[in-house]
Amino acid sequence: MLARLEERRSSPLRCLVEPGPTDTELSRMLSLAARVPDHGRLTPWRFIVVAGDARRELGERLDALYARQNAELPASKGDMWTLYLMRAPVTVVLVSRPDPASKVPEWNQVLSCGAASMGLTVAASAMGFATQWLLKWPGRDPDAAALLGVGATERIAGFIHVGRPAMIVEDRPRPALDEVVRFWSPDQSISNETPWASGSERE
Ligand SMILES: Cc1cc2nc3c(=O)[nH]c(=O)nc-3n(C[C@H](O)[C@H](O)[C@H](O)COP(=O)(O)O)c2cc1C
Repeated sequence: MLARLEERRSSPLRCLVEPGPTDTELSRMLSLAARVPDHGRLTPWRFIVVAGDARRELGERLDALYARQNAELPASKGDMWTLYLMRAPVTVVLVSRPDPASKVPEWNQVLSCGAASMGLTVAASAMGFATQWLLKWPGRDPDAAALLGVGATERIAGFIHVGRPAMIVEDRPRPALDEVVRFWSPDQSISNETPWASGSERE
């Protein structure tokens, strides 16, 4: 398990290929993703699976909406969202749905959705799949979200695209621990210095 975690990385969407997860594998993956810390047991997130023919049907509706919103769109881009959704065998849309009436802070609820998203990528990886977590226009636009059935009180946390990795892509540099880790000591309690404030600039 540790070796898996040490090797885990995203695969670019163009490298995600068939065969996607079977229904049984997908259920298992989603069950694992749902095992996350959840303050107040509110389940402040849900999953929307876009697979099979639904990818094209949703993609065509997104393309029509995008064309209405972008009058100058060149014809060559007319099917870009269909192509986008058709790339990966399965896409899971992670939806954050914090309960505003709960005494649990909204931030805690939102973080639980992020944890579920990461849980999904780790579960997929453990099952031999690869993922890429993207948040593009369909995840940000309210009208596009409505096509997915995402309501005004909800927010899309990501499109997690799932498939088999066509190739193992090169890993990216990972943060050096000494840049992101500090052991707290009493003299630091009055400092507002962050680990990277004193040195290199971050992107
Ligand atoms: C919420 C969220 C949204 C993201 N959206 C995009 C995106 O739209 N485009 C992109 O190139 N990468 C995006 N990424 C980054 C990729 O998912 C991923 O971090 C990157 O490919 C390297 O991932 P790895 O560290 O798992 O290898 C997003 C990441 C997160 C957490």
